[in-house]
Amino acid sequence: MHMSISVAVSGASGYVGGEVLRVFSAHPDVEFGALTAHSSAGEPLGIHQPHLVPLADRVILDTTAENLAGHDVVVLALPHGASSEIAAQLPPETLVIDCGADHRLSSADAWAEYYGGEHAGTWPYGLPELITGSGTRQRDSLAGVKRIAVPGCNVTAVTLALQPGVAAGVVDPSDVVAVLANGYSGAGKALRTQLLASEGLGAASAYGVGGIHRHIPEIIQNLEVAGGAGTRISFTPTLVPMSRGILATVSAPLAAGASADAVRSAWEAAYADEPFVHLLPEGQWPTTAATLGANTALVQVAVDEKAGRVIVIAAIDNLVKGTAGAALQSMNLALGLPETTGLTTIGVAP
Ligand SMILES: NC(=O)c1ccc[n+]([C@@H]2O[C@H](COP(=O)([O-])OP(=O)(O)OC[C@H]3O[C@@H](n4cnc5c(N)ncnc54)[C@H](OP(=O)(O)O)[C@@H]3O)[C@@H](O)[C@H]2O)c1
Repeated sequence: MHMSISVAVSGASGYVGGEVLRVFSAHPDVEFGALTAHSSAGEPLGIHQPHLVPLADRVILDTTAENLAGHDVVVLALPHGASSEIAAQLPPETLVIDCGADHRLSSADAWAEYYGGEHAGTWPYGLPELITGSGTRQRDSLAGVKRIAVPGCNVTAVTLALQPGVAAGVVDPSDVVAVLANGYSGAGKALRTQLLASEGLGAASAYGVGGIHRHIPEIIQNLEVAGGAGTRISFTPTLVPMSRGILATVSAPLAAGASADAVRSAWEAAYADEPFVHLLPEGQWPTTAATLGANTALVQVAVDEKAGRVIVIAAIDNLVKGTAGAALQSMNLALGLPETTGLTTIGVAP
């Protein structure tokens, strides 16, 4: 027998909101309640999300506490700042899942430095695979919670790439370098000149260069939780002409005395039992294409002996494992359901 879980989605006209609706549609117990947004309120969802055919006639409502009231779960897919404002008006018994940044950071100083303004507080973190200690994972902390902060998409890719080595002590976390290839949907739907097809098709370009990207403190927070005291990272995302996907290339010095076998073993042990994170067979490299539409993270690790560095490649779909899939995975854990319910590792290819 199935239970019925009423889910409201705020930001339903956006990329994340649309993906939440697509991914959550596959969950056997989910029934959608209010779908809300901002400038598109009053319009049918089908104008903004034509791929969600069964929901095309649903009318988008204003994002108000009244419209979001009375649901078991509210998923917020709003710009940062907007989500903490509405979340503060929702009752404590509602499970609120925020796909934005407002409640991810534990440091108010880091919030002020990278986002500005007042820190809205810290919620339980929605990365179930995060290593939180010897033999413990973040999933152990999510049962019964009523507030979940879904990680940033780049943060998920870099954390899943490097945390096994940090936790096992086979890499030096003080000199991490991450360069990412990012699809355009990571920037959201709002119109900006540099995101036009005429600018982006045929071009690869860097952004957020020089230690300023907002995902940096969240990556450091995660790698420190995983055991990497004193983590320092140089992080550079690049836009490449694809609509979805993140390919993260992450490297760190091999720790003194660590062998290539110990490196491989660390990654194998960390992900042997994970349903959504797959260490590929040696010599096979992750591609974003193999993760599209799936809640999958693909990982490969190698040791560059001459450079003295461990190199990890991770691929995810930014909108699935990077957001909507993580939200559903975390919802399952919070509600005491099997973690994998409604989630697929089967992608769309070619
Ligand atoms: N894109 C990704 O890959 C990704 C991954 C992880 C996390 N995130 C985070 O998820 C959130 C949503 O990102 P997105 O890419 O979906 O952005 P988006 O495509 O620009 O969508 C933004 C949504 O928020 C609504 N909105 C804007 N201002 C609002 C306000 N003041 N009050 C209520 N609703 C408002 C918009 O409604 P209207 O269209 O009706 O104006 C739209 O539905 C962001 O916090 C982002 O950082 C994004």
